Amino acid sequence: MDLKKLYEECRTFRRFKQDEISKADITEALDMARISSCGMNAQKLRYIAVLNKDTVAKMQPLVKWAGFLPKELGTPKENECPTAYIAVLKSKDAGAFIDVDLGIATNTIVTMLYSKGIGSCILGSVNVAEAEKLLEVPEDLSLRLVIGIGYPDHKSSITEVTDDLKYRMDENRDYVVPKLDFDKVVKII
Ligand SMILES: Cc1cc2nc3c(=O)[nH]c(=O)nc-3n(C[C@H](O)[C@H](O)[C@H](O)COP(=O)(O)O)c2cc1C
Repeated sequence: MDLKKLYEECRTFRRFKQDEISKADITEALDMARISSCGMNAQKLRYIAVLNKDTVAKMQPLVKWAGFLPKELGTPKENECPTAYIAVLKSKDAGAFIDVDLGIATNTIVTMLYSKGIGSCILGSVNVAEAEKLLEVPEDLSLRLVIGIGYPDHKSSITEVTDDLKYRMDENRDYVVPKLDFDKVVKII
């Protein structure tokens, strides 16, 4: 897929078809995250890929969806939930650049997946204590965010900002996400 098209279309998805995601696709995305740029080449991020159906099901109540929408609209129903998760963990001795590293690695994962038609939702609102227990996260690591993964079951498009920055759902339950104008966010001198 053309890179510009990939970045335009790789949006957040919150409802998924229940088809399995292949281990090979997840592995390839994580392998690219593994070699992504990071401050001082410190490589302090770790990943847990959750493909096991029981564990995936146990992850569902530990994440919070779509803060701008009422729960009945924004939270996926049982047959719409992600079919896999990736937990992104950081080493407790990581330095000041770790959140930059985290952003680069997370974006690598979601764009790699999307290049195969697989959608995702980066989830920062996680019940960290319970998720760390479930995933048996080692003492020297802490869970920073999770990524819900699956084949998208809705569309999502960007639009210009008319009112505020809150994403919304249209009459087809597709997401519409306002983005600020280029001139508002970029100055070229
Ligand atoms: C760091 C980060 C944390 C996020 N946490 C959540 C979350 O907890 N729950 C959720 O439903 N979406 C979450 N999102 C998705 C954002 O709401 C989404 O990226 C934003 O609305 C813009 O939509 P877009 O990704 O389609 O451009 C998160 C995204 C990022 C980058």
